[in-house]
Amino acid sequence: MTTLKIEELRSKIEGKEILKGLTLEIHGGEIHAIMGPNGTGKSTLASALMGHPKYEVTGGKVTLDNEDLLEMEVDERAQAGLFLAMQYPSEIAGVTNSDFLRSAINARREEGDEISLIRFIRKMESKMKGLEMNPEFAHRYLNEGFSGGEKKRNEILQMMLLEPKFVILDEVDSGLDIDALRIVANGVNEMRSPDRGFLIITHYQRLLNYITPDFVHVMMQGRIVKSGGPELAHRLEAEGYDWVKEELGIADEKVGEEV
Ligand SMILES: Nc1ncnc2c1ncn2[C@@H]1O[C@H](COP(=O)(O)OP(=O)(O)O)[C@@H](O)[C@H]1O
Ligand SMILES: [Mg+2]
Repeated sequence: MTTLKIEELRSKIEGKEILKGLTLEIHGGEIHAIMGPNGTGKSTLASALMGHPKYEVTGGKVTLDNEDLLEMEVDERAQAGLFLAMQYPSEIAGVTNSDFLRSAINARREEGDEISLIRFIRKMESKMKGLEMNPEFAHRYLNEGFSGGEKKRNEILQMMLLEPKFVILDEVDSGLDIDALRIVANGVNEMRSPDRGFLIITHYQRLLNYITPDFVHVMMQGRIVKSGGPELAHRLEAEGYDWVKEELGIADEKVGEEV
């Protein structure tokens, strides 16, 4: 069974420790949701797992199917099947969406086993249709001039075409109206599979009305401090985070800026 195992992960950014011993294990077939206040390190976790050079890992261990993830280069992590839908997807001028996607797919395949142009186009068009994306987005420069919601759909399109083993969605619901939220959630649900694990980072419970998680975790001060089922997300939505702090005797953290 495919497994992403994070043990006591610590990470620093610009000298400041953000992840302070985070432990989490995700198996294929499972959807885990992480909720937590702003600035608590959720996006830092996503970036540290992907190997973003700004996020220095200072302790702990991460394995993907028993392979040491932290030893891998960024592209090796992607090749090993890790995928991140970013909170703020980057724009790449001069590279069209379809060129980007086809190279990304082929980079994950063996030499000589590249996807043919015709199969790629067919697949992309069918996924774009499912996501109710305008076909012209295939030929636009990557994320350039895309609205917030269009960028998010495009991240889901990438996920659907790349078919990764582990998917991290960072605030994929932010900036989406209800229709777009439903479309994005359908895309995710369609990709649910016993061979694929999901880590969904979200501020709001509403996404979890459409994607039912198996586990919900509360992250505070750089750690998972509480875990439960979907009912935990409902309680957080209704009551906020204060009760968790009280229950655990956690002092109010100085809430950082979201980056
Ligand atoms: N690139 C960065 N440069 C400086 N500080 C950062 C950077 N990324 C994150 N931080 C800091 O790390 C903390 C956690 O941020 P982040 O992981 O984005 O939180 P969350 O996603 O939970 O809102 C914040 O205090 C933020 O200011
Ligand atoms: Mg964030």
